[in-house]
Amino acid sequence: MQRPIGIFDSGVGGTSIWREIKKMLPNEHTLYLADSANAPYGERSKEEITQLSVKNTEFLLQHDCKIIVVACNTATTNAIDHLRATYEVPFIGIEPAIKPAALHTKTKKVGVLATKGTLSSSLFHNTSKLFAEGITVLEQEGKGLVELIEAGQLNSPAMQELLKKYVGPMLEQNIDCLVLGCTHYPYLIPLLKEMLPNHITIIDSGEAVARQTKAVLEKSNLLQRTESAPRHILYSNKETEVLQKLVNDPGAQVAYLDF
Ligand code: SIN
Repeated sequence: MQRPIGIFDSGVGGTSIWREIKKMLPNEHTLYLADSANAPYGERSKEEITQLSVKNTEFLLQHDCKIIVVACNTATTNAIDHLRATYEVPFIGIEPAIKPAALHTKTKKVGVLATKGTLSSSLFHNTSKLFAEGITVLEQEGKGLVELIEAGQLNSPAMQELLKKYVGPMLEQNIDCLVLGCTHYPYLIPLLKEMLPNHITIIDSGEAVARQTKAVLEKSNLLQRTESAPRHILYSNKETEVLQKLVNDPGAQVAYLDF
């Protein structure tokens, strides 16, 4: 039970999920892998995304992780079936939160901002078909957003311009929910809130993923039940400055690792 929860992402964005897991499971150790040297995954082929996801998984398993959270929508939608079929450890994935948006929308129009890799995946299309019957789902590729977030530019003029370009047409079409379909994007919520009218609800998957992680650990009898001083280690294979800033936790250890 002392084994850590393993979490990986194409980069720093998955820390939005890591934070929710830490909040919901305060006794658990975590080991986070930011594959920033290979970000973004969203423009890569399914084969490349799968290969990188396998490499990240092998690393986390070598470090004795008891469960693996694929804290990346693009890796989930393209590689999680392969990972589940290959390894015995439980995997938690991140799917765009179409279902809560479909339940919440009054205008019956929902916007989804995600990477090309996520939007073109069959898992995304199946989820949309399953949960969004009678709802118009407006898909928008967030090209360039991950690169800016990886560079720590959360509020730069370039970021403002891209968001305006991506969200503007969805607003014109009367969406009232915006689904953030990439774990990097929750870092844009402060900026989005400044830009969007008040009636637009922004939906991301962080809390739901933490809840699901807890449920699977409980069911598999892997939950750390006694109080412990948890260890949080976060590795990046690129410079760690942005990761350190986003993690913003003096109790967590952030380090460079050539993996
Ligand atoms: C990316 O690496 O392109 C984005 C990661 C994600 O989809 O969450």
